Amino acid sequence: MTLSGKKIILGITGGIAAYKAAQLLRLLKKSDCDVTVVMTSEAEKFITPLTLQALSGKPVLRDIFSGTESNGIIHISTASEADLVVIAPATANTIAKIRTGIADNLLTSIVLATSAKILLAPAMNRVMWENSATQENIEVLKKRGFLISGPATGFQACGDNGIGRMQEPQEIFDDIITILHQESVSQKSAGILSGRKVVITAGPTIEPLDPVRFISNRSSGKMGYAIAEAAVAMGAQTVLISGPVSLSPPAGVSFISVNTALEMHDAVMNSISPADVFIGTAAVADYRAATISPIKIKKSQENRELNISLIQNPDILSLVGHSEHRPSVVAGFAAETGNLEVYALKKLTEKNADIIFGNDVSDQSIGFNSDQNEITVFTKNKKAVSLPRSSKKELGVAVLQFIAEMLT
Ligand code: PMT
Repeated sequence: MTLSGKKIILGITGGIAAYKAAQLLRLLKKSDCDVTVVMTSEAEKFITPLTLQALSGKPVLRDIFSGTESNGIIHISTASEADLVVIAPATANTIAKIRTGIADNLLTSIVLATSAKILLAPAMNRVMWENSATQENIEVLKKRGFLISGPATGFQACGDNGIGRMQEPQEIFDDIITILHQESVSQKSAGILSGRKVVITAGPTIEPLDPVRFISNRSSGKMGYAIAEAAVAMGAQTVLISGPVSLSPPAGVSFISVNTALEMHDAVMNSISPADVFIGTAAVADYRAATISPIKIKKSQENRELNISLIQNPDILSLVGHSEHRPSVVAGFAAETGNLEVYALKKLTEKNADIIFGNDVSDQSIGFNSDQNEITVFTKNKKAVSLPRSSKKELGVAVLQFIAEMLT
């Protein structure tokens, strides 16, 4: 999605990670965001307002009484215009103040006065982070709808090693994109799936050959996770059944982690009765080893050629399509390297699906493991529709808008 023109308040508090806020500011400015930097006086001991003013192209706000605009009520005017407030780094002290509603500087006053979402990127010593007071503050803030990015684990300025480092600016930036994307989905498609249960499969399956080897594929889960994230934003009760990937499940999904196609099959069958929508985004392995060696298969002089016998896995999409508990809309994906239309239409009929989203995986810049995709939508008796190349997050929304129309 485009961040152009989004109004972001970047709050900086007094921690050594304050210098990384400059990098986050650069990422936001490169995406054309309108960023207002608000610093606490402690933050100024770590990074100068002048640096941040030069990077943001605007005066840095530091003093609650400095406002000449809005009759001097600077915290109210700034707070009301924001699309998002990001506090990076957020110290233990500021987190505690926010939890208790203390408004003793411009930043904490803005936090009290805004109705925008607030993202905190905590940064502190590991013992301070693990302290039950901090943990309780974070839990309370999460329940109030605050969003938390990190903290990360690693070496700390004080010499400790553990959890408490501020997330890297790029990771905080990625979280900002996700939050603003969810906001825009909620505005455009608010509640269009509320009261509906959507079951989604994502990622690859892995099929073991022996205790250390397996057959798998290049699916990253990005497409399926993007759909799940959009489903939550549209109000659906969302079940995400995923093979092994390195993504974190989107907030608000019921998450089921699986490894093999057989495990994915069982999880899907348990989840679809009842469900309104099934979407098979996973790249399920078509075959598994007929027998899994209980010990590591060894290389030997006699064993110069190795034949592994494979047997077919159940076709989950087809079984859902033909199930007596068939959801109202059954959707699959077709990952093809050629003849997309022919194969997609064949899948539509053979698997008794209502909709097949075809993607051409011969193009490495879309499909497997990329952030973008390009989809052709095939439905029974209708002309195919092209969804032009865009981010998987945007396509996740488009996919569900198609499906929501079929439900009405
Ligand atoms: O995960 P990403 O890196 O973001 O990549 C996304 C993707 C390319 C994996 C995704 O967009 C996609 O195309 N998923 C389907 C990949 C695939 O395996 O297609 P297929 O043509 O083999 O299967 C067709 C459909 O049947 C799929 O909906 C699949 O989930 C389903 N299927 C296939 C085999 C099987 N045993 N059970 C199934 O349910």
